[in-house]
Amino acid sequence: MAARMKLKLKTVFVLYFMVSLMGLVYALMQLGQRCDCTEHDMPKDRTISRLRGELHRFQEQIRKSEATKQPQKQPAKPTIFVITPTYARLVQKAELTRLSQTFLHVPQLHWIVVEDSPHKTPLVSDLLVKSGLAYTHLHMPTAKDRKLQEGDPSWLKPRGVEQRNEGLRWLREDRRAQPGGDNQQGVVYFADDDNTYSLQIFEEMRNTQRVSVWPVGLVGGMKYERPVVEEGKVVRFHTGWRPSRPFPMDMAGFAVSLKLVLANPEACFDGDAPMGFLESSLLQGLVTMDELEPKADNCSKVLVWHTRTEKPKMKREDALQAQGLGSDRAVEV
Ligand code: UGA
Ligand code: MN
Repeated sequence: MAARMKLKLKTVFVLYFMVSLMGLVYALMQLGQRCDCTEHDMPKDRTISRLRGELHRFQEQIRKSEATKQPQKQPAKPTIFVITPTYARLVQKAELTRLSQTFLHVPQLHWIVVEDSPHKTPLVSDLLVKSGLAYTHLHMPTAKDRKLQEGDPSWLKPRGVEQRNEGLRWLREDRRAQPGGDNQQGVVYFADDDNTYSLQIFEEMRNTQRVSVWPVGLVGGMKYERPVVEEGKVVRFHTGWRPSRPFPMDMAGFAVSLKLVLANPEACFDGDAPMGFLESSLLQGLVTMDELEPKADNCSKVLVWHTRTEKPKMKREDALQAQGLGSDRAVEV
């Protein structure tokens, strides 16, 4: 009986040992096996798929809003044709450099440079080629009897007249040769090479219908001259001299629509106009005071200045030249 008990206990013990061992072996086999984690990963999966859904919705929204933005094609800006008379003198390259670098900041600008010279000069040609601007290079010498002579006071004869007229002639011819409906779209502005132009003035003039006007600073012996605006209309002019002139304004103070220039093929500057009547000689055939379009916040802002560059003194250069020690002529200034 005792022996049988012993045997049984031994069997139980062996069985117990065997089962534990199998359990341990099974546990060891499970190590490193991929587990079926479906149950405890459920919340994480749900979060991921929810975030994916949201991302997809956001992407859809962005795509839709961009699709609505794109088709609004901007209408092309009207081109500003800037006509600049220029003549050879010591400061010419400096003036044209400053001017060209201002124009580089203006979109849709075509620079018409008209040299007061019997031929195009290398200085201006090179400057234009390197300028990065859209340009047309012309020349038209001022007739000798109309040209200011050394020592003449600057007001004695009008300047830049034949050159601006040559610019107008080219423009009329060129536009006629351009096919398409928008060859009349544009603005014409007469920009002397020595003035100072704010970039804003070009955006002010860009949508000129007939003739737009604005103040000019430091001109006519005044801090500024300007059209006086009442209820959106020009009613008179603030000027220090002969306000009775048809258009007592400086050249820098107005722009004309290309359409108006083309519709009036004879309109040009009159070199024989009395002093101070040059601007009027062009404008009086084109527009009435009532039709002027005031710009620059109803002509309350100065955005262009009639600056004049001092003539450089060459006393020391002349003295050195007399000794054969002058500056190298091959260096372009
Ligand atoms: C003022 C006006 O601002 C000019 O628009 C106007 O032409 C001139 O008076 C005038 O009454 O004739 P102001 O500063 O006195 O201008 O003239 P400049 O700047 O010396 O000359 C006006 C433009 O003509 C300049 O672009 C200049 O380079 C050019 N110019 C001048 C010539 O092409 N040839 C010349 O012999 C002199
Ligand atoms: Mn000037």
